[in-house]
Amino acid sequence: MPQIPALPPTFRWGVSTAAYQIEGATEEDGRGPSVWDTFAARPGAIKDGHHARTACDSYHRWPEDIALLRELGVDAYRFSIAWPRVQPTGRGPVGERGLAYYDRLTDELLTHGITPLPTLFHWDLPQALEDDGGWLSRDTAFRFAEYAARTADRLGDRVPEWITLNEPFVHTVFGYALGQHAPGRTLLLDALPTAHHQLLGHALAARQLRERGARVLIANNCTPVDPASGTEADRAAAEAYDALHNRLFNDPPLTGSYPDLSAFGVAEHIGGAVLDGDLALIRGSVDGLGVNYYNPTRVRAPADPGGLPFDLAPMEGVPRTAFGWPVVPEGLRELLLRLGRRYADALPPITITENGCSYPGIEDPERIAFLDGHIRAVADAVAEGADVGGYFVWTLVDNFEWAEGYTQRFGLVHLDHTTQTRTPRASYTWYRDLIARHHAAR
Ligand code: NOJ
Repeated sequence: MPQIPALPPTFRWGVSTAAYQIEGATEEDGRGPSVWDTFAARPGAIKDGHHARTACDSYHRWPEDIALLRELGVDAYRFSIAWPRVQPTGRGPVGERGLAYYDRLTDELLTHGITPLPTLFHWDLPQALEDDGGWLSRDTAFRFAEYAARTADRLGDRVPEWITLNEPFVHTVFGYALGQHAPGRTLLLDALPTAHHQLLGHALAARQLRERGARVLIANNCTPVDPASGTEADRAAAEAYDALHNRLFNDPPLTGSYPDLSAFGVAEHIGGAVLDGDLALIRGSVDGLGVNYYNPTRVRAPADPGGLPFDLAPMEGVPRTAFGWPVVPEGLRELLLRLGRRYADALPPITITENGCSYPGIEDPERIAFLDGHIRAVADAVAEGADVGGYFVWTLVDNFEWAEGYTQRFGLVHLDHTTQTRTPRASYTWYRDLIARHHAAR
């Protein structure tokens, strides 16, 4: 039996998913192609040649998924809306049938007392916008705000809170700098304007959403960064990495400025992308900070002084998930406390918008231990003053793990990809019991 964590009665429990990872039906009801459809079709881009044309078939099986959410007893469900279903080419009139899907989903969630928490952009940019430059183009920020407005016009009467962007760091670095994600560009530091254009798009969208009475979050993947040793060189490397990974996307909305990226040889204004007035618009554009946490990061001075100003160092002596990621629950407590120290009064309430791990078994004691440890870490941080209002497990059901295809399984529910059979894991029952006990103690 899970213990009741020492968290306030108002604390929200949830699970998270994303459209491209679960929906399938990529050519149905007028959906336009996204950058991920194009990228996944490239030979060798996705492990084992997997694709997301069917994924978990949630576009058709959503009632089954909602039944799983009901049984789990979550307060809220974080899902994402596929921009190419709402606007097949990323601009212009809305695709009525695509939007109707999210309309039904929202209604059904509310019928069962589950608060919808939609993410507007979880990496599936309409391909037509990418053809015009994607997030390298400033215009995409304005298109994003228009899409947010049209979507909120339709769902806003039932959605109290929105997440604009999911992990813009990963989209910039893996999508535009390193080419391991869609759109598969390998621009290295020349990808940095995509960071600013995403943040500008976020802020322009936030204005639209707030005008309609909603609260706005951004979901940033954050990691506590530590130097591998106490040397000056390792400490400088850790600071440089922290600026890129954490501060690049947290500082502008919270403080109205970009971190110093001079260690990367990058001029103050992110490759000339920042125009007058942009930072004033971005500052204060969140009502809450979404934090996706998976593991901490160790950094050391670069072996090659002519390259990036850091090397990532292996983390020794800690357990690993099936994906090979270090398991360090304490890192979440540390991260939450550091965010509080860094941003102080500028830090809005935090929601843990993702936390989870890849393990294949249906009996999954490792996942139970992982979740238990991380939820305790949140409770510890809250006891020490962190303002955290909710925790969302990544993810409900095994799904398309981007370049890893279906080889990594993060679900509380196991998916048989051939039959689409969903089988709740031991961790599902554990999380259900934890939520029930916390609710009963309210
Ligand atoms: C972060 C991403 O938002 C999500 O799409 C991904 O599946 C999980 N982390 C696990 O890698």
